[in-house]
Amino acid sequence: MILLGVNVDHVATLRQARYRGEPNTFGGFVEPDPASMAWQAEDAGADGITMHVREDRRHVQVEDVQRYLERKKTRLNLEVSLSAEMVELALSLKPDSVCLVPENRMEVTTEGGLDVVGNLGHAQEVVHAFTQQGIPTSMFIDPYSDQLEASAKIGSPWVELHTGSFARGWGDPIKQKEELSKLMEGMKLGRSLGLQVNAGHGINYQNVEGAKKLSGVTEFNIGHSIISRSLQYGLSEAVSTMRKLLNS
Ligand code: PXP
Repeated sequence: MILLGVNVDHVATLRQARYRGEPNTFGGFVEPDPASMAWQAEDAGADGITMHVREDRRHVQVEDVQRYLERKKTRLNLEVSLSAEMVELALSLKPDSVCLVPENRMEVTTEGGLDVVGNLGHAQEVVHAFTQQGIPTSMFIDPYSDQLEASAKIGSPWVELHTGSFARGWGDPIKQKEELSKLMEGMKLGRSLGLQVNAGHGINYQNVEGAKKLSGVTEFNIGHSIISRSLQYGLSEAVSTMRKLLNS
């Protein structure tokens, strides 16, 4: 069975479109509320919730994470960058796991994987700090052998393979097949290094059928497509439909 992690960042994107620069959510009074939608996603079958607190706070606010944690039913996977401020924040929030991601202020979303090789020493210190607190880490990386080997070397138990290139191959079956085989190679190497391999980015109701071919994947983290569908059909339908597609 493939687990489904639901990323609720884009609930906050919609809210912040109106309340840009406002960190106070007034206890969830300001709609839409990522914490209550996370609880609803859990009731509809999500195995875990992901939130990304960005350095620029463009979507999820710290208060969203704190409120979600008060009534969490599954587990929180918190995405943060490697910066000292964000690592300290993540340690204080005590999530169930942390996914380390690259951040670039100009990007629309997380556009490429983390360069673990180029940040080896620092990434190792960060992984160690989380491990000391009993928080497993995952590296959000492209499926390259050097990045996988570096992730294992610094003691990260998990990786999340970036499926964005596969998703961008929509309408081009040859490109999609090529990207899937790169992911499959990454999967095999990751598993042989003893890593738990998750995957995510750009997975939607159309390409999930192809993404499922990534055998050995533990969990898909899916955000934009589920939150977008929820506008039309409601979140419970959006989550349960994705859940059925994942494991049909
Ligand atoms: N995994 C990671 C590490 C991400 O940064 C994101 C995007 O925030 C996702 C998964 C989910 O991507 P999408 O919103 O395209 O489903």
